Amino acid sequence: MSRWLLTGGAGYIGSHVARDLLASGREVVVLDDLSTGIRERVPVDAELVVASVLDTDAVRRALDGVSGVVHLAAKKAVGESVEQPLLYYRENVGGMTSLLQAMDDVGTACMVYSSSAAVYGEPAWSPISEDSPLQPLSPYGETKVIGEWMVRDVAVARPLSWVSLRYFNVAGAGAINLGDPSVNNLIPMVFRALDRGESPQIFGTDYPTLDGSCIRDYIHVSDLSAAHVAAADLVEREVVGVALNVGTGVGASVIEVMDAVSEVVGRDVGAVAVGRRAGDPPELVAQVMRAQETLGWSARRSLTEMVSSAYAAR
Ligand code: WQD
Repeated sequence: MSRWLLTGGAGYIGSHVARDLLASGREVVVLDDLSTGIRERVPVDAELVVASVLDTDAVRRALDGVSGVVHLAAKKAVGESVEQPLLYYRENVGGMTSLLQAMDDVGTACMVYSSSAAVYGEPAWSPISEDSPLQPLSPYGETKVIGEWMVRDVAVARPLSWVSLRYFNVAGAGAINLGDPSVNNLIPMVFRALDRGESPQIFGTDYPTLDGSCIRDYIHVSDLSAAHVAAADLVEREVVGVALNVGTGVGASVIEVMDAVSEVVGRDVGAVAVGRRAGDPPELVAQVMRAQETLGWSARRSLTEMVSSAYAAR
């Protein structure tokens, strides 16, 4: 049985990955500073170390007996990163430096890294291939690109097998107690509006898309989590170094998401069109062939399952 370190394992995505790593037969050590993570979300079968990835000594100790690391711990709000770029460089780039240093010190040779479609910025083409230029539009996206470069560079200098997973729009919940507690993204924002008796807003209906609203590639957090286990299997099995899109390969417009919510809640949510939000590309959809071929993984869950599970877990 192998033992894995999961940074950020008390968070929204991490709490799913922790369960799936355990279910794959691995021992799991979660390292989380609980700044946004929730202690109760760490499965009882996992060990919890309450520490920041910036604490290299604590990471080094947590790596004892560990064969690989899934690194999720990071700041992830695009708008906040524009306001506080140094916070993002300190936490995300500093966190990666500290983690890779600790891994180097103790000789940990496997890494699965949480990257983002934000590395592409506003791509010229959609669906987006992994070979598209990396042109992030925010400090958040920049720190994700730098993290990918750091892992790649370290792997040139010493033995390290790695996969970077570029997440598209993550949604849904694998259980009613594992919903996304932040209200940064479309689906949680729609539910918050409904809870307050307000109308959900569609940010722009004049985009060059079929219905005029923006198109995104929404992926169920349980499918995303399964991709981490497949990536952990791969880096343990062979020496690789690859960045993979993690999406469904199918886009949904904001209006289609509103329709899915209306279907789930059993009434028209009465979404209203408002102006565009600055910086939103019209369409971001993943090319998913490389993940399918490399990991033998693909997303299975529908938009309706994302919306209904998010609704049940809100
Ligand atoms: C989705 C679509 C909005 C709210 C961001 C980050 C990305 C990643 C995921 C990090 C857009 C529209 C939204 C609302 C709306 N983050 N919208 N009404 O912007 O695609 O991606 O989150 O790890 O890096 O950039 O996601 O959920 O904010 O928006 O119409 O009330 O919904 O304009 O088209 P986005 P989102």
